[in-house]
Amino acid sequence: MTDTIGKIFIGVAWPYANGEQHIGHIAGAYLPPDIFARYQRMRGREVLMVSGSDTHGTPITVRADDEGTTPAEVVKKFHPRFIESYLKLGLTFDLFTHTDTKNHWDCTHDMFRHHLDGGYIYKDTQKQVYDPQAERFLPDRYVEGTCPRCGYADARGDQCDSCGSTYDATELLNPRSKITGNTSLEARDTEHFFLDLGKMNEPLLEWINQPHEHWRASVLNYTRTQLAERKLRGRAITRDLTWGITVPLEGYDTKRIYVWYDAVIGYLSASREWAAISGDAERWREWWSGARTDVRSYYFIGKDNIPFHTVIWPGMLQAYGGLQLPYDVPSNEYLNMYGRKFSKSRGNVIGINDVLERYQADAWRYALTAMAPEGTDVDFTWDDFVERVNNELLANWGNLTKRVLDFTFKRFEGKIPEPGPLTETDNALLTEIRGGFESVSHLYESVKLKAASVELRRLSQRVNQYLTERAPWTLIKTDTAAAGTAVYVALQAIDWLKVLWSPILPHSSQQLHEMLGYDGPLYGRQFTESVNDARGEHLVLRYDHSPATARWEAEPLRAGQALREPAALFIKLDEKLVEAEGGPQSADKT
Ligand code: MF3
Ligand code: ZN
Repeated sequence: MTDTIGKIFIGVAWPYANGEQHIGHIAGAYLPPDIFARYQRMRGREVLMVSGSDTHGTPITVRADDEGTTPAEVVKKFHPRFIESYLKLGLTFDLFTHTDTKNHWDCTHDMFRHHLDGGYIYKDTQKQVYDPQAERFLPDRYVEGTCPRCGYADARGDQCDSCGSTYDATELLNPRSKITGNTSLEARDTEHFFLDLGKMNEPLLEWINQPHEHWRASVLNYTRTQLAERKLRGRAITRDLTWGITVPLEGYDTKRIYVWYDAVIGYLSASREWAAISGDAERWREWWSGARTDVRSYYFIGKDNIPFHTVIWPGMLQAYGGLQLPYDVPSNEYLNMYGRKFSKSRGNVIGINDVLERYQADAWRYALTAMAPEGTDVDFTWDDFVERVNNELLANWGNLTKRVLDFTFKRFEGKIPEPGPLTETDNALLTEIRGGFESVSHLYESVKLKAASVELRRLSQRVNQYLTERAPWTLIKTDTAAAGTAVYVALQAIDWLKVLWSPILPHSSQQLHEMLGYDGPLYGRQFTESVNDARGEHLVLRYDHSPATARWEAEPLRAGQALREPAALFIKLDEKLVEAEGGPQSADKT
């Protein structure tokens, strides 16, 4: 069905470089694309997965103001922290860069000029919130107020956290300045460039009305409703700011391109940067050329980013012409903390860099997949984390591998035993586990990663049942050959499950791979590099897939292969950590 698809583009939401990421970000939009990418690469598809730090806009300048430093310094602090956590967690970005590069400025200017020349950008004066006390216009994040749509009292200037709608800051009710606290704000005229989304409404509607049933229902319904209402209209894509990408025209020195216009262009610019630094500057076209039918483009984002990826970015791409539109935007809901949003001011943030110091990367990868907020918001609790790691990952999969490998290592001279004739029970197990290459494949392919983890647990549990039935530890006392067959069958099942689990558990699967006596890496190699361009030096995270050996195939296990000394794959968690980590109380620290 999908075998004509040879290339997969994966765009991952560009994180604002104004703070470390928490586990909610990771569960929502960072881990899922990596699982998906690893699976796709094993299937033999050529994956290009890119993202980078979003370095512009008021989220960065507000942070710089708060800390009495410059936006550039803020970026310099957090960009490497993202890379550090992605290395530890094993997120295999082909390129993770940032938006303050010459390449990205050039791509943004190029898109701006194309849109302008094509009549998709026009100039107009707009009323913008002005703070007379601060003597400046107030961009989105510098003004708060009551949501004009739902009445939520702490709505941001550009978007409401409660109902998700986007609007112009001048529409806010009871606006107040975040700089001075002033509530007597004015709406003053200022000249800006506008993206003419109205012109794109009809072509976008045509696009979304084609079969899109593989989309998540919530994402598709939202997008179809937006477009069917035919209410898209011009949106200002410049701001009165001095931090950001300049307008590529004379006379606009005090204005900068709006962060959302440039950030989504990052998907394209990062693809070009990837091509340039991998030695074939034109190769990005293989994933982007609109004429190709063997490509699928996926965008992994949190739900607050949906309109930008299902309406605005496709609109920008259509207006530019000749480029691939999104194939799917498998947006997630939120992972919350004991019923509340992660919030720095409430002190209930679980930072990813921090927890990777204390717990195994694969423990997080498993737990965040098993808990994934795929259809609804999900509550993270430390109890749940311990429960998932100890009673699911460890009890079901970790102990299985340890038990069988220990037994083989001790009782079969450290070698995979030669099997005798297989019984019906043996064949039944192998058929069922081999079926995982179909069942789990479907789930990964359709980005149902939580369901994939459930299916993987079920399959692993089948091997546990098999072992209880066949009990090679008892059998060996009377019939070594029969025990050897049972062990061979269990090891074969484990070896296949290793492949099926590996997109979620790449680190422990690699260890298991080595214990089973194989050499070479299942996956490729992550590395960092410093890239120099006319805007300076920037650190990038990259991935070299070429040494990878894993394939999505039920390959036969070789009898006689020498094992390496087995060890436990996962560290059992102490229940006491729930309290130590702050437990449920931490949510009440208001
Ligand atoms: N920086 C934005 C955020 O953190 C996400 C941007 S996604 C992009 O919400 F694709 F537009 F860059
Ligand atoms: Zn609202």
